Amino acid sequence: MAVRVEANGAVRVLRLDRPEKKNALTQAMYAALSAGLDAAEADPAVRVAVLAGGADFTAGNDLADFAGGRGEGPSEAFRFLQALRRFGKPLVAAVRGHAVGIGTTLLLHCDAAVAAEEARLLMPFTRLGLVPEGGSSLLLARRVGAARARWWLMAAAPIAGREAAEAGLVTRAVPDAEVEETAMAMAEALAALPPEALRETKRLLRAPDEAALDAAMEAEFSAFSARLNSEEAQAIFRAFLSRKG
Ligand code: COA
Repeated sequence: MAVRVEANGAVRVLRLDRPEKKNALTQAMYAALSAGLDAAEADPAVRVAVLAGGADFTAGNDLADFAGGRGEGPSEAFRFLQALRRFGKPLVAAVRGHAVGIGTTLLLHCDAAVAAEEARLLMPFTRLGLVPEGGSSLLLARRVGAARARWWLMAAAPIAGREAAEAGLVTRAVPDAEVEETAMAMAEALAALPPEALRETKRLLRAPDEAALDAAMEAEFSAFSARLNSEEAQAIFRAFLSRKG
């Protein structure tokens, strides 16, 4: 199974575990993540969830999956994003190595994120012939300001973990070897706080953007699906999948 669920008392870790593909996300992995979040939500013993990977967080959506285009209706990725949005308990991310595409945009739905100083975050949507997803067309500018958001989303500029922390995209950047322990310490700190107060606080923090986020995600979904099926994007996926060496 490419997503491991680790129970650490009050902290539930959902760990991406497909290192040979840099934790690129398949439909099955999105489904496992959604199920993992729903189970963590439902279990009263779980106070906090952590999203983690290994040497890499994730290389984003599996490009072989994108290369098949997309039919009608929501994908597992879309369902995962909805599960992420709905998740009412504190959510912490631990980011090492590459965090590509949804690997970066999902951070906008986390309550805290720790990145390795040398982590490589990237939202390569335009390079791939795609458009932003995960609510990033709205939330990124809210988080880091319009100038950075435009550059990172339009020019698909890479972002080092250190820079992500300076900009406020993640909460902290630490040396690679300290990412896991720092994320766990933050998760434990949150787990020690009164859970109902945390749930209400999270709800209040999200509330002002809720309607705008619905609209942004709907618009993104329709544009993203159209782009995914475009010849411009499909040619780029084929080129990636057929590269040599
Ligand atoms: N989908 C499918 N396979 C992927 C993948 C993805 N998103 N990202 C990496 N892989 C695979 C590679 O094809 C390679 O497989 P192989 O060993 O069978 O050839 C393996 O993972 C290792 O990747 P590699 O490219 O050799 O590692 P790297 O360290 O040189 O580069 C990345 C890492 C993340 C920069 C690079 O893999 C990359 O650009 N991936 C695509 C990222 C992307 O565009 N994601 C979609 C976002 S919307």
